[in-house]
Amino acid sequence: MREGQNSVIHRSDYQEPAFWIDSVDLCFDLDPAKTRVLNKMKMRRNPHVVPQALRLDGEELNLSRVLVNGQGTSFKMEDNQLVLENLPAGNDVFELEIFTTCAPAKNTKLSGLYTSGDSFYTQCEAEGFRRITYFLDRPDVMASYTVLLRADKSKYPVLLSNGNLVEQGTLDDGRHFAKWVDPFKKPSYLFALVAGQLVAREQRITSRAGKEHLLQVYVRPGDLDKTEHAMNSLMASVAWDEARFGLSLDLERFMIVATSDFNMGAMENKGLNIFNSKYVLANQATATDTDFGNIESVVGHEYFHNWTGNRITCRDWFQLSLKEGLTVFRDQEFSMDLASEASARAVKRIEDVRVLRTAQFPEDAGPMAHPIRPDQYLEINNFYTVTVYEKGAEVVRMQQTMVASGPSDPLGREGFRKGMDLYFQRHDGSAVTCDDFTQAIADANPDSKLAQLLPQFKRWYSQAGTPRVKAVGSFDGASGTYSLTLSQSCAPTPGQAVKEPFVIPISLGLISADGSEVASSMHVLTQESETLTFTGLQAEPVPSILRGFSAPVILDFAYTDEQLLALLEHDTDPFNRWEAGQRLALNRMMAFISQDALAVADMKLDARYIEAMRSVLRHPKLDAAFKELALTLPSETYVAEQLDVVDPQRIHAVREALRAQLATALHADWEWAFEAHHENGAYKPDSLSSGRRALTGLALAMLCIAARTSGDTVWPGKALQRFKDAGNMTDRFNALAALVTSGSDLAAQALQRFHAMFKDEALVIDKWFALQAGATDRGGNILPIVKQLMTHPDFSMRNPNRARSVIFSYCSANPGAFHRADAAGYVFWSDKVIELDAINPQVAARLARALDRWKKLAEPMRSAAREAIARVAAKPDLSNDTREVVTRALSED
Ligand code: PHE
Ligand code: ZN
Repeated sequence: MREGQNSVIHRSDYQEPAFWIDSVDLCFDLDPAKTRVLNKMKMRRNPHVVPQALRLDGEELNLSRVLVNGQGTSFKMEDNQLVLENLPAGNDVFELEIFTTCAPAKNTKLSGLYTSGDSFYTQCEAEGFRRITYFLDRPDVMASYTVLLRADKSKYPVLLSNGNLVEQGTLDDGRHFAKWVDPFKKPSYLFALVAGQLVAREQRITSRAGKEHLLQVYVRPGDLDKTEHAMNSLMASVAWDEARFGLSLDLERFMIVATSDFNMGAMENKGLNIFNSKYVLANQATATDTDFGNIESVVGHEYFHNWTGNRITCRDWFQLSLKEGLTVFRDQEFSMDLASEASARAVKRIEDVRVLRTAQFPEDAGPMAHPIRPDQYLEINNFYTVTVYEKGAEVVRMQQTMVASGPSDPLGREGFRKGMDLYFQRHDGSAVTCDDFTQAIADANPDSKLAQLLPQFKRWYSQAGTPRVKAVGSFDGASGTYSLTLSQSCAPTPGQAVKEPFVIPISLGLISADGSEVASSMHVLTQESETLTFTGLQAEPVPSILRGFSAPVILDFAYTDEQLLALLEHDTDPFNRWEAGQRLALNRMMAFISQDALAVADMKLDARYIEAMRSVLRHPKLDAAFKELALTLPSETYVAEQLDVVDPQRIHAVREALRAQLATALHADWEWAFEAHHENGAYKPDSLSSGRRALTGLALAMLCIAARTSGDTVWPGKALQRFKDAGNMTDRFNALAALVTSGSDLAAQALQRFHAMFKDEALVIDKWFALQAGATDRGGNILPIVKQLMTHPDFSMRNPNRARSVIFSYCSANPGAFHRADAAGYVFWSDKVIELDAINPQVAARLARALDRWKKLAEPMRSAAREAIARVAAKPDLSNDTREVVTRALSED
């Protein structure tokens, strides 16, 4: 059954619920084909709302009984709602009892109650609870939950739900039960249950406050040896939130459960987090350093939601960034604080900014652009976006920056902590808005820039689009004065033709010719244009603007090569040091791309750039992780964003050509880097050793690329050897990737061997698929490979991780291969969007976004892409999810 043509929901239409639900008593008889759900609610009318019918949300449920205070009652169905018009008048509590069934085994959408393998899981955010029972499925209705689970004991020995286990025992017919009570009121989206054959790693901890807690990580038997890192990350999260924010774990028991079928990364259900297994399972043999890092962030993220999301939740889904932007900010800070050394903090910051610029900036410039607090949606699942999450986190970060108070609190950490304390003091236990959050941060810091500029600052919540800051410098030698004029603008986005000026904190410094820093300050730009002056200078300085990426904006400054080289060498701000290197590379790539007549073979990198890269690589003080970031060219997606008309294959060809030159020109340096950064001793996923592995991985890839040009067989041979001998997945996978990306003859045998070694490790097989679907295109060879991979017995369209590893790796992460002049990539894309939409609309809608930026494409791609999108849009039965994406893509706005 497909839902009807639902209509757009507006933020301005918010109204309080007409009823409150005080308590919910749920009883589940779990059965994959037909699960019976008895839902007894204690409800009452909301006295603030005019008396009206009760409308409960429900989706794909079979209703068998409705009782009010134990008596039968009249009801009707309207769209997807159960409507009760004859409820008792007055404000007294009444009991509503609803009995329904659902079919978890048929639930391929993975929203609501579903089976994966032989176990049951739930996913209720945003609107999945209505697929379990009829309910007021909205986050401002907070209730107390009691949950009784009944199931076959041998098939489902473990029965979990939120809160505390209060009773368990056996029943007739080989069945058993467990009863759970959640001591906290919660919105329905935080409900969860899990049932199946699972085992747990357990850890007892005592908090700073002296309380005892039980931490558990549940996985399938056989995966226990991959849970140590997740448990360590969880313990670190508990300690960090206490230390930095004074927030302690409020539950006796905190559980994480891994499942291999999951639409997203993980879910913060109260006391029972459910995770995509990708963000739980790791050991050195199966997971890379990146996986280890991601697990740390995601475990932290979900844990931090316990306060920012669960204790204080969202009034409505337009406020999603209230919990997501804030919690991403918290998980970013957590990872940085764990890294401790300044250089590792900088590396984390660079990685986060790279995500923002390659994923969020394009979103903000495309048809799905929306403010971090959107004003309307058709399908809320489409708004779990990089804008709400990552840009949302930047907006929280700016609030911290803007409550800084001089030398005693230069970064604003203490002021921000005060703001958070006030936020909890005011709102703990309730469902609030983004306005409530900013108000608390500002009120706790009345003398801050944030408090002074609050109404204007809040434009970050209401205006979409990435602001551009144009900076122009001029030096007056006679007076020794440097002026820097900063002007801001923001392009129109759908529905927002004109933008008002933003509040933009700009951290800046001036570097003198000899490399010393002559000034540094924080300027808050509020006008369309402002000029800053610096006096007492001997010579024209080099401005280092937007240090640490102090605001989510695009900075235009016409840097000369000399200036960029000076920043790359001397800037005290590691972020801008990296940025200078990226600008040097980008300028060259843009120049080559724009010279239409220039053949790839004639694109020659200048000695100056190569020497600069050599000195970074050979630098005695810079650490390995930073070098790896600095020597990686800007991504194809990032380059595409800088162009008005995009020919993805041209960008790809240019990037590959420059990479090959860097490989050849720095050959001896790459050899040195590879040999000098070997890690000996036991594997540890810490920032220092993972940085060294990242650099040796890049070096090996470059040496294999150089070998392709020179005909050398030694380095590919060494890569194969390293692939075979590697003691951890990072080194093994990097060696395999070096062979595959360089197009080595040895790649095929290595791939085959890799599959044989890891055939029972689903997450590793995902990597195997992704590597091939994302490999460098050579003469259009990738699409046939992708189609071939989809016939592999291990491929499945139903498992989101697997579908993503092949289809998304090609359509979303391999622009050089996907954007074909013959349109075959787009035809493939439209087929897969349509096919996936019938199985899992959330996954389909994400894939649909691969063509968001079609309007920028050069012909013939542009027309072919539009045709492919139109083909999807013409499908009559599309889900709301996919329909919203393709309709917006085609709109003329
Ligand atoms: N709330 C989850 C998170 O960010 C994400 C999520 C959304 C997961 C919707 C599942 C469904 O932590
Ligand atoms: Zn989250």
